[in-house]
This record gives sequence, C-alpha cells and structure tokens, in this order.
Amino acid sequence: MISIRPYNTFKVSHKVGDIISATSKEEVCSILADLDNPIILGGGSNVLFTAHTNRPVIVIDIKGIDVLEQTDKSVLIKVAAGEQWHDFVVWAINNDFGGVENLSLIPGKCGAAPMQNIGAYGVELSELLERVHCIDRLSGKATSFGREECQLSYRDSIFKGAYKDKFVITAINLRLTKYPYHRINISYGDIKKLLGDRYINQPTIKDVSDAVIAIRSSKLPDPSCLPNAGSFFKNPIIPMTQFQKLKEYFPLLPSYPISEKRCKIPAGWLIDQCGWKGIMIGTVGVHIRQALVLVNHGTKNGKDILFLSKLIQSSVKDKYGIALEPEVNFIP
Ligand code: FAD
Ligand code: EPU
Repeated sequence: MISIRPYNTFKVSHKVGDIISATSKEEVCSILADLDNPIILGGGSNVLFTAHTNRPVIVIDIKGIDVLEQTDKSVLIKVAAGEQWHDFVVWAINNDFGGVENLSLIPGKCGAAPMQNIGAYGVELSELLERVHCIDRLSGKATSFGREECQLSYRDSIFKGAYKDKFVITAINLRLTKYPYHRINISYGDIKKLLGDRYINQPTIKDVSDAVIAIRSSKLPDPSCLPNAGSFFKNPIIPMTQFQKLKEYFPLLPSYPISEKRCKIPAGWLIDQCGWKGIMIGTVGVHIRQALVLVNHGTKNGKDILFLSKLIQSSVKDKYGIALEPEVNFIP
C-alpha cells in the first residue's frame, strides 16, 4: 500500500494499492489489462479520497501537443491527456492561438478537462473542444467521441454520467483562433474592471490571460500553500419560480439567468451567508476569501473534509431549501 498524498491537491494521505504512471496510449492499454478496476488520475486537483483502498491508481502522464491543421482563421490542436492544462494555455498564448486565455491557471491535466467541461470567467471548454480520444477500459480498444457525443454542460459531461469509469481519455482536440480572428471575451465583470484599472482598451489574449491570473491569484488559495480542490460544490441551478419566492425573503440573493425558466445561484454566496467563511473545524476549514473552497489545514483523512462539506450542505438546505451538489469527485 502506498500513500496518495503527493498525487492529490487536498493532500490527504489515504493508502492505495499501487500508483503507476502511464506515459503512452500503449502503456495505458497494457496497464489496464494487468490491473483490476484501477482509479484514473490526472493532477488530482478535483478529487477527494475518503478511505484507504486496495485499488491501484494509474496517473496519466502522456505528453505531446500537435498542430493537426491550420486555416487563415483557426488551428486544430491535439493535446495529450498528461499535459498540464495551464502549460498548454501558456503554449497557446505564446503561439498567439486564442480561446483558452480565460481558462488560465486552472490546475490539473488536459485529459480531465472534458470530464467536468472546465470553465471560468465566461468561457467553457465546450466552446473549443472538437474531439476526445479514449481507450475503452473493458476492451482496451482506442476510440474517440465528437463534441456532441460528449454531452458537455455546466460542470458535467457523459464521462461523469453514462460513460462513468468506462473510458480513459488519452488526448483532446481543440479548435483555437488565429490573429486577427480572436474572440476576446471580457464579459466577466472582474476582468473588465481590472483591464480598465490597467488602462487597456483593446486587450490581447495575453492581456486577458494576465488579468485572469491576477484575479484568480487574489481569490483562490494556491494548493501548494493551502491544500484544496477549488470549488467544492457546483453553483446550483434552480427554477425561476423558486428563485422569485426566495428573493421575497432574501432580497440580496444574486443570480445569473440560464434560460427563461432557470437561473444559477452562486453557492459561495449561500455558504458565506450561512456564516461559514473562514470557519475551521479541527484541521479543515472554509477559505477566508472564497466560501466555495474548502481547505485542508493539516488532516490526513478525507473524511474530515467530507464531514465539513455535509455540515455546509445541511445549513444551506435549512436556510435556503437548496441542495448543494459536490463538484469534487469522491474516491473510492
Ligand atoms: P483529477 O482530479 O485527477 O481527476 C478528476 C476526475 O477526472 C476524476 O474522477 C478522475 O478519475 C477523472 N480523470 C482524470 N483524468 C482522466 C483521464 N485521462 N481519463 C479518464 N478520467 C480521468 N475547475 C474548473 O472547471 N474551473 C476552475 O476555475 C477551476 N479552478 C480551480 C482552482 C483550484 C485552486 C483548484 C485546486 C481546482 C480548480 N478546478 C477548476 C478544478 C480542477 O482543476 C479541474 O476540474 C481539472 O480539470 C481537474 O484536472 P485533474 O487532472 O487534476 O483531474
Ligand atoms: N461570493 C460571495 N462569497 C464568497 C464567494 C463568492 O458572496 O465567499 C459571491 C461573489 O461576490 C460573486 C459570486 O459569489 O458575486 C460568484 O463568485 P466568483 O466570481 O468567485 O465565482 P464562483 O461562482 O464562486 C465559479 C466557478 C469557479 C470559477 C469562477 C470564475 C463553479 C462551481 N465555480 O466560482 O471554478 O473559477 O466561477 O469563473 O462554477 C472550480 O470549478 O473549481 C472553480 C474554481
């Protein structure tokens, strides 16, 4: 048995059967053939281990970035699953390829990006993703899925639903823009304000990336200093009728419209309003600047974090009648 601590950003120390790095598609296939029900891990930045397990872990370390085709306007890129997402963003910006700048500084690897359709600051992976290359865990055969088949939506995909634990993602194809066809997106208020403060009127993709990095660094704890897995819960999506009723009791309740019938509520606001921000229970706590982020001040046991998350869910449910759903993936 071996500790998972170096492989998860929550820095819990549960034991697993084995930890094996896979650096090619072929290695993934041969390891899959040898192991019984392995856990697949990228950078471990969106998981919470809650118990010891005999299951072995395969860490996806396949590298490579290839330009598949180029037109005047765009470029199609294949990125291997083991590339660090932010390193890829930096590579794209250095090559003046646009589309991923708003997704700067998201931890983890490219292979995990379609799992929950990573998103930030007004952009989701679904806007760029063309294809996901996989290995079927049962047959060991290579296959691929187009964007539509992946059923990407807010923090969700078919890989968390019908295809859960059925495929290992080995690479993704993304369509990025070339200058002057970039689609600069500064719709997120914080970005617009920061660019204004910097007197930047016509931002480049690098300006947007720098702004996103500055905003994220001011709000979100760096997991290498304070272990965490980013947002612990998803922002709940509720019917507009429920929102309107709640608004009578809580006039300041914020919301973002999704459609005429539904809206998204910031879970961080709900948790904050329940008084959780900065609270510690033993060696786990709620981040002082972002109530949606649970932080580990020293526990080795993921159950302590799970316990805190359940207390938070209960208090939000009691006060607002809203059930918070975890964004983090629990293992085992
Ligand atoms: P892991 O945590 O290793 O795995 C996540 C899940 O995907 C697990 O279920 C795992 O089994 C599965 N998986 C991983 N790789 C593969 C593969 N190759 N094939 C099949 N299954 C696989 N997310 C956002 O969307 N937006 C944000 O703004 C954001 N900010 C964050 C900020 C911080 C400080 C942190 C710590 C996290 C943040 N996250 C954010 C969450 C996280 O970074 C993303 O979900 C990221 O894509 C996870 O990548 P990973 O490689 O660490 O995945
Ligand atoms: N808020 C509070 N108190 C808090 C935290 C937030 O009142 O403690 C309020 C803010 O004032 C703001 C609103 O909630 O009005 C939204 O906050 P923020 O802009 O920080 O974004 P978020 O909804 O908390 C989401 C994503 C993040 C992503 C950011 C930026 C989810 C679950 N989280 O956070 O993704 O980086 O928007 O786009 O959708 C992640 O998934 O791990 C993650 C960090």
